[in-house]
Amino acid sequence: MSIDEELDCGRRRLLVATAAAGGVATVATVVPFVASMAPSERAKAAGAPVEVDIGKLGPGQMMVAEWRGKPVWIVHRTPEMIAGLRRIEDRVADPESRRDMQPKYAKNPHRSIKPEFLVVVGICTHLGCSPTEKLKPGAESGVEADWPGGFLCPCHGSTFDLAGRVYKNKPAPDNLEVPPHMYLSDSRIVIGSDKKAV
Ligand code: FES
Repeated sequence: MSIDEELDCGRRRLLVATAAAGGVATVATVVPFVASMAPSERAKAAGAPVEVDIGKLGPGQMMVAEWRGKPVWIVHRTPEMIAGLRRIEDRVADPESRRDMQPKYAKNPHRSIKPEFLVVVGICTHLGCSPTEKLKPGAESGVEADWPGGFLCPCHGSTFDLAGRVYKNKPAPDNLEVPPHMYLSDSRIVIGSDKKAV
């Protein structure tokens, strides 16, 4: 990657993280970042866990939280989205998530604790750009007609499905990382700690 590309990549990540922290919704399906104010901003920057309210995240919607300065995507998958994961197993590089890009409790086809909620670090495993959400299926997302919904990295074209699994023959070598996390209740999760993962 050239120096210009590296700068673009870094700039893009910064913009995405800033947008998340500032609560800026960039597309209709993304809802603003909402997290408790404790612990302090400084502690969060140093890597403290962050608590996120997902109670208002409707089916088909995505929100962005920030943990350790990285965007963390939370997607509330619909039953159709979950069913679609099985249908594209032959198109993704690591369909069963055998490589270590997720904690034990996310080593399953939907890569999550609860099938309906995806929680992944929104940073491409190629060179660190932040992919763009393309949740809607088909050409509506500006991808190919048989696109089932997922994420597209604009830097070098890697694509990821709605479980953050990378498609075959793309520059990104691995699925998107699932951060340690756990549920405090049906509507609250903690990102960055999984001492009591359920
Ligand atoms: S950074 Fe190269 S494809 Fe994402």
